Amino acid sequence: MSNHGTITNDNHAALWHGRFKEGPDADAVKFETSINDDMRMAFVDILGSQAHAKMLCKQGLISEEEKNQIVDGLESIKEDLKNEKLSVDLSAEDIHSFVEATLTDRIGEAGKKVHTGRSRNDQIALDEKLYLRYQIKKLGGEILKLIDVLVKIASENKDTLIPGFTHMQHAQPVTLAHHVLAWAWSFSRDFTRLRDAGERADLSPIGSCALAGSGLPLDRAYEAELLGFGGVTDNSLDSVSDRDYYLEVASDLSILQMHLSRACEEIVYWATTEFNFVDLSEKWSTGSSIMPQKKNPDFAELIRGKTGRVYGDMVALFTMMKGLPLAYDRDMQEDKSSFFEAYDTVISSVRIFTEMVRTASWNKAVMAAGCDGGYLNATDIADYLVRKGLPFRTAHGVSAGLVRIAIEKDCRLEELDFSEYQAASPLFEKDIFDLITPEKCVEIRKTIGGPAPSEVQKQIEKLSAFVKENTSKGNDPIGDFIN
Ligand code: ARG
Repeated sequence: MSNHGTITNDNHAALWHGRFKEGPDADAVKFETSINDDMRMAFVDILGSQAHAKMLCKQGLISEEEKNQIVDGLESIKEDLKNEKLSVDLSAEDIHSFVEATLTDRIGEAGKKVHTGRSRNDQIALDEKLYLRYQIKKLGGEILKLIDVLVKIASENKDTLIPGFTHMQHAQPVTLAHHVLAWAWSFSRDFTRLRDAGERADLSPIGSCALAGSGLPLDRAYEAELLGFGGVTDNSLDSVSDRDYYLEVASDLSILQMHLSRACEEIVYWATTEFNFVDLSEKWSTGSSIMPQKKNPDFAELIRGKTGRVYGDMVALFTMMKGLPLAYDRDMQEDKSSFFEAYDTVISSVRIFTEMVRTASWNKAVMAAGCDGGYLNATDIADYLVRKGLPFRTAHGVSAGLVRIAIEKDCRLEELDFSEYQAASPLFEKDIFDLITPEKCVEIRKTIGGPAPSEVQKQIEKLSAFVKENTSKGNDPIGDFIN
């Protein structure tokens, strides 16, 4: 196929070559093409053009026969791309040019009508939104799988004690179930955030043309309906200038990757010799070229490390947009490489994280033993006195006094003598010793969302229902694409 810069009557010449005497420099062609990023949108571009042809026919702008030729011609291109009988011409300016040129090669004159009442400016916005719909669905599915795995770990570990930290200092005991469900809830917000963004992006821009709509009698609503959109955008200038959907989803992706990164940070130190809370599967660990004993949590580190790349892509998108006058500016072509990189990084991180935690083994005894040191039950001693009528601030002071004695004696709070408790406050009775075991400290925390196994069970049920409700059934109008 010929290079799009060449002035020729070939279908594959640049779509705009007619006004030019000279073709662009070869380096200019290489610099301006977006085909490498566009390639993955080939199927949605074709889908969009098929709907466009149907709309043009309904409006009497092309004949029934031309419409059929276009729709079938596009279908054959789609099939050939799928079966790898046809490959995208990497010297094309963009996917729109490639599809239109290939169509005209195949069906002749009717192919030259497909771009009636359309510009690449509204076409690219359409392709991006259609492809985004698919991307959100796919990523959403991966997030649900992750939540499902975390819920399973939680179900098996409702009684597995683990120290809870603030400032990385021992705070109060919780359970492994409670901890991994905290991760799961953050991922559930990621899911709904993406879904919300998808809903806002669910308006078709096609028919806005270059910037000012069209004088031809297009039926935008009909075309939008064919493509499964909820409606059409309201302003043609805005339609071709808007990249909010990418900015919004890139922000959502950044938050999601941040959640993964924080969990990975925990996995990394939980896997240290000092903590030893978790053993990562050998499938999801690496070794050292020099130190034979090593088993490193590289996958958790890489997910954490890739977070910078995702933030970087988001910032690139915001920076690209910040000074652009209405309507379309070519700067906007840069959106795809940033967005796709962020998306690809995040979806692979979600998948890897899911497998890493699914295959990990949790050292329950070590976690439970971690609850013995660090005076995790000091608040429970204060709460005991509160239940006996002492003001909390006073109770806090009494408990702090006991902590001080225990530090001096280098023992646990439950190892102090009952006489020391009584000296601290006459309100203490012998039952204090039963009420400050780590198990009791967890069991008693029955506030909504607390770590008590009974409350954790409610979280498990709620998250399981969330996964079930959102796992999509049926066919998507876009169909099944290769990521
Ligand atoms: N490749 C372009 C992009 O990705 C498509 C739109 C081109 N429009 C134009 N007026 N040159 O943004």
